[in-house]
Amino acid sequence: MSERIFNFSAGPAVMPEPVLREAQEALWSLDGTGIGVMEHSHRGSAFKAVLAQTEEVCRRLANIPDDYHVLYLQGGASTQFFSIPMNFLQSGDTADYIITGAWSKKAASQAKQYGKVHVAGSSEDRNFCYLPKALNWTSKARYTHITSNNTIFGTQWPGEPDVPTDSPLICDASSDIFSRPIDVRKYGMIYAGAQKNLGPSGVTLVIIRDELVKEASLDIPEMMQFRTHADNESCYNTPPTFGIYVMGRVFHWIEQQGGLEAIAEQNQDKANVLYRFLDESVLFKPTADKDSRSLMNVTFVTGDAELDTQFIATAKEAGLDGLKGHRSVGGMRASIYNAFPKAGVERLVEVMRAFEAKHGEAKHG
Ligand SMILES: Cc1ncc(COP(=O)(O)O)c(C=O)c1O
Repeated sequence: MSERIFNFSAGPAVMPEPVLREAQEALWSLDGTGIGVMEHSHRGSAFKAVLAQTEEVCRRLANIPDDYHVLYLQGGASTQFFSIPMNFLQSGDTADYIITGAWSKKAASQAKQYGKVHVAGSSEDRNFCYLPKALNWTSKARYTHITSNNTIFGTQWPGEPDVPTDSPLICDASSDIFSRPIDVRKYGMIYAGAQKNLGPSGVTLVIIRDELVKEASLDIPEMMQFRTHADNESCYNTPPTFGIYVMGRVFHWIEQQGGLEAIAEQNQDKANVLYRFLDESVLFKPTADKDSRSLMNVTFVTGDAELDTQFIATAKEAGLDGLKGHRSVGGMRASIYNAFPKAGVERLVEVMRAFEAKHGEAKHG
């Protein structure tokens, strides 16, 4: 099949089409070198230029201050779950975690192997369908960890939660990085697996304050030290070169869209189309509380598992793929990251409307 369809996958996810086309060309020959991007040495000048350009656009896009490093690491966001406590938590230290879903829970459980974890807030009592408001902090926690967007449960912090300023804020932004403006200064570290908003899986973007890098443990394997990657500009070992190249093109594409402010408007606009329909629907119900809704992952159910399965099949026939919700929520999940086109959201609403006309009355009438 050479036609593309609407891909609502939660990740790996839809990529900007112009980037796919550029990557096709670069796979064959990067910038007229006669060697494809995957085939260039990471120590050669062609790839060094890719690295430099990628970092330059990333810094410009998110207004990253000079005392922050931009690193491209491997092992996915999940490796950061243990890498962070390994670097920053000595036994006896406490780190604060806000538990808003399966990913933050995993991150906290890894941290427990290195030090104490204090749960500053949790929404587990209602299957993570909201963001906790009552937060209680450890004084001078070694760091505070949050997950900005909860991919599985369809919730997203509207901005940074009001966290104490006496401990560095560390954020897993895997599923909403660069979907809106970000004030990097508020964070000690931001990390994101690329495969939702930035590029292919296999590369993790880490933005980290130099001060934190300098304070990190020295008695852990070199490969696990942020210092090693900062000192070697992500080329201590062979970095994920293709992923870095694609990420750079995605940064460039976001700039062409008008930058983070403009992409945030587009994302709000797309999500509004879907939430507006969901709020009026007699058949489909959003699963997240209204004030906690994600603009990236929209989760919804009919309340009848069989009908959900039927809807997913109907949508697939209509050229809408990847809508099955995560098993811990059930129902449907429409992942509508930066690169997902508004036309796809409109098409989804059309298909939902038609399905509701057929099945809604039987259920609610
Ligand atoms: C918020 C969040 N954190 C972490 C992960 C895990 O990322 P990875 O598969 O890159 O380890 C995911 C994956 O979906 C995620 O959505």
